[in-house]
Amino acid sequence: MCGIVGYIGHRDACSIIIKGLKRLEYRGYDSAGIALYDGKGIYVSKIKGKVNDLEEKIASDKNTNGSIGIGHTRWATHGVPNDINSHPHYSNSRNLVIIHNGIIENYAAIKQELINRGYTFHSDTDTEVLVNLIEDVQKSGSYMLGKAVQIALNQVVGAYAIAVLDIKKPNEIVAARLGSPLAVGVGKDEFFIASDASPFIEYTSNAIYLEDEEMAIIRQHKEPRFRKIKTDLLFTPYVQKLKLNIEEIEKRGYEHFMLKEIFEQPQAIKDTYRGRLLVHNGLVKMSGIEDNLEKFLNAQKITIVACGTSWHAGLVAEYIFENLARIPVEVEYASEFRYRNPIVTNKDVVIAISQSGETADTLAAIKLAKENGAFVFGVCNVVGSSISREAHAGAYTHAGPEIGVASTKAFTTQISLLAMMALRLAKAKGTLSTSDFKRSLVALETIPSKIEIALKSDGLVKEIAENYKDATNFLYLGRGFNFPVALEGALKLKEISYIHAEGYPAAEMKHGPIALIDENMPIVVIATKYGHYEKIVSNVQEIKSRKGKIIGIVTEGDTQVKALADHVIEIPETSEFLSPLLTTIPLQLLSYHIAVLLEKNVDQPRNLAKSVTVE
Ligand code: F6R
Repeated sequence: MCGIVGYIGHRDACSIIIKGLKRLEYRGYDSAGIALYDGKGIYVSKIKGKVNDLEEKIASDKNTNGSIGIGHTRWATHGVPNDINSHPHYSNSRNLVIIHNGIIENYAAIKQELINRGYTFHSDTDTEVLVNLIEDVQKSGSYMLGKAVQIALNQVVGAYAIAVLDIKKPNEIVAARLGSPLAVGVGKDEFFIASDASPFIEYTSNAIYLEDEEMAIIRQHKEPRFRKIKTDLLFTPYVQKLKLNIEEIEKRGYEHFMLKEIFEQPQAIKDTYRGRLLVHNGLVKMSGIEDNLEKFLNAQKITIVACGTSWHAGLVAEYIFENLARIPVEVEYASEFRYRNPIVTNKDVVIAISQSGETADTLAAIKLAKENGAFVFGVCNVVGSSISREAHAGAYTHAGPEIGVASTKAFTTQISLLAMMALRLAKAKGTLSTSDFKRSLVALETIPSKIEIALKSDGLVKEIAENYKDATNFLYLGRGFNFPVALEGALKLKEISYIHAEGYPAAEMKHGPIALIDENMPIVVIATKYGHYEKIVSNVQEIKSRKGKIIGIVTEGDTQVKALADHVIEIPETSEFLSPLLTTIPLQLLSYHIAVLLEKNVDQPRNLAKSVTVE
């Protein structure tokens, strides 16, 4: 949550920062702000709203020159979104300005102490407390900015990625991280800092990812210095060569990132398979699994921890692992797991699933699992992310950047990867016959081309969306492997169209939700050929007799549901355990088209952020 950008070099800092903030808007878009050093003083401008609003506000300002600056796009935690709470924040003397992503948990106590010492506060933010704490440290011992930041950070509890400018030492930016991501882009005589590499990818492919409790002092025309915040040790960081390219983070003709990402799924899944799914050799090969095979095979149980859509992928994986590899699996919300004193031991394997690799609750769940001796395996999309580094081992989904806030290709690539893992373990355990194993590999291989076919329903789904865009409630029903898809379909609709929706296992309908059904209630029923089809047909009949409007997701050639439903969307036939990869496609498209028809901001829905780095 919140995106931060900084630049120090020889180019126009303002335009680099504004462009960078636009790329980071997926992290928050409640307000935006910038601080620039123009050789004389520090100019600050900030506004409630989007980066475009900031750009408009500063368009006619004359003092936006200079080649040093920092910028921020906010997802509000402490204090409502307004101009005053927007970042950057000044210290009382107005010598320091700060931008911050994270939460200072002990800010209230620090604030009170500072108030007792005569400091005044203008905003409701924890960030203004931090910048004044740094100033207070500076004053108390005439410390240079870097030292003062370090001393102050040793007093705070919480999470931060910060960048600080000091008018007394204007050719320097001090950046630090704990819990929130921070990358330093290393160019030729220029440096960038950012929450991820997207703001600087067209200028340099050399990046340093700060670890927790590390700080960087970035100086103009000099080498940066890197220091451990706790131990004061200077260190030489590892410079990573980025593979990201600029095309991947642009819309390429699609109206929204979400639509682009929905249509990218066939390719994204092929990228997940690459080098791992070796159908001709009859193999699944994943180094993270091969190196730790015994741990998986001897596991008492597998616990999957994740949040949101990634948690839904975990639920699908539970069905797949238990069916194919016969390993007991529990799926937990990371936010519950971390606080409920779970039973986890050194006989357990914990799989953490996260697109961003930065979700605070998932990260905390991993730390707890490690403390209890469990082996932790990360399934992440973002390379080099905190979760991928914290896990003992892992595998990347390689879906490419997902920028739309509503997760789509992350979900299907996570399931694809977890299905490969389950097959590899099934083979090692001998729980699948050789012929079933081979058939499953072929089924996996054909998924991308079947998704291409499923995507052809786009026009039909749009027509269905026209019919139901004004509904105020939706039900989504599925069974077995497709129950989590019902949850995911409902989540997609809620988050981008703000229509209330619930996902249920179809048979649970009778135990309550059936009371909601009348002629105004659209009900999306996943009724594919395999997996309790006859039972789902009965559920469809029950809905029909209560006049609910039925949108059936069926296998090509279906006749029974077709005869009962108001609309059907066909998907190609596949093995039951892989059907979620196809049934989810029309549900993604349905939520997308309804949101577009309702003129909602599809890529940046209200109150949400792509990467939830706070609890
Ligand atoms: C929904 C969505 C969220 C995320 C959740 C976890 O479309 O995107 O529910 O799935 O915040 O995020 P990651 O996977 O980054 O840990």
